Amino acid sequence: MLIIDGKKVSLELKNELKASIESYKAITSKVPGLALIIVGQDPASQAYVRNKAKTCKEIGINSTMIAMPSETTQELLLETIHKLNDDPSVHGILVQQPLPAQIDELTVTLAIDPSKDVDGFHPENLGHLVMGDLDKCFVSCTPFGILELLDRYAIETKGKHCVVVGRSNIVGKPMANLMLQKLDAANCTVTICHSATENISFHTKQADILIVAIGHAGFITPDMVKPGAVVIDVGINRVDDPSTKNGYHLVGDVDFNGVSSVASAMSPVPGGVGPMTIAMLMKNTLLSFQRFNGL
Ligand SMILES: NC(=O)c1ccc[n+]([C@@H]2O[C@H](COP(=O)([O-])OP(=O)(O)OC[C@H]3O[C@@H](n4cnc5c(N)ncnc54)[C@H](OP(=O)(O)O)[C@@H]3O)[C@@H](O)[C@H]2O)c1
Repeated sequence: MLIIDGKKVSLELKNELKASIESYKAITSKVPGLALIIVGQDPASQAYVRNKAKTCKEIGINSTMIAMPSETTQELLLETIHKLNDDPSVHGILVQQPLPAQIDELTVTLAIDPSKDVDGFHPENLGHLVMGDLDKCFVSCTPFGILELLDRYAIETKGKHCVVVGRSNIVGKPMANLMLQKLDAANCTVTICHSATENISFHTKQADILIVAIGHAGFITPDMVKPGAVVIDVGINRVDDPSTKNGYHLVGDVDFNGVSSVASAMSPVPGGVGPMTIAMLMKNTLLSFQRFNGL
């Protein structure tokens, strides 16, 4: 069985992005800029944002971290976003979620200039994705990273049946729409499953490509998978493990050991989709820089 190694591919991609950024810098004396906004003290969110800033530094993107206290008003956050929308040195704006209860996430998403929405969450970007105008939009980083993995591993997708389990706005829905597009690593017949789907294994067993993003540890078992299928596991779930320093370890939504005896290729957790998400955020930021500078 082939392991779809997101750690390796993300390193290759980051090296390619770094080389592009250096060459653009030599021509324009400019580099891409990414603003990272975090509101509150959530340790997981802080770790995610630190990791994004570290990756920016590694590849030559100028990142600005804006840390705001938990009691920040929505008005102040929107004012901060508007200033960044008008700042020509900022090509991408990311507001780390979740946000405190007094702030409405959709209002914040709508405040970000779609041309700087490198997370691809703005309805304008989602709309362009649905219409297949990929050169006009940003695609949400996790689905975009999965497309990149399928492409780099030359997985045959044209005309295949792709089943996406999960319909969130940031993973399931954009993923299904991406796999539907007339693209080299897509062009599939697509089925979407969710928590109200009846007899879910009937659908998953028909998948040539099965993409699972639900947040339930080990939900997909070998009997739910068609022999030879390509299985992409998006889930990140903590399982208590007193033998580790943190007291837990991470597993996906797929029973990796069981399903590996049935599938032809699988992405592991950790080391599969996860590392691609940050790499694609970097790719989207560079894309925005290229669009802003007509490169
Ligand atoms: N690797 C990465 O970079 C990355 C990025 C984002 C998310 N993730 C992980 O991916 C997982 C999903 O994330 P998300 O943001 O999409 O989660 P989410 O917003 O909670 O959405 C979960 C989706 O799964 C569906 N679902 C839940 N239980 C189900 C079941 N038993 N059978 C079928 N469908 C079920 C839900 O259906 P309903 O719509 O009917 O409620 C919902 O559409 C999480 O583990 C998250 O940590 C990983």
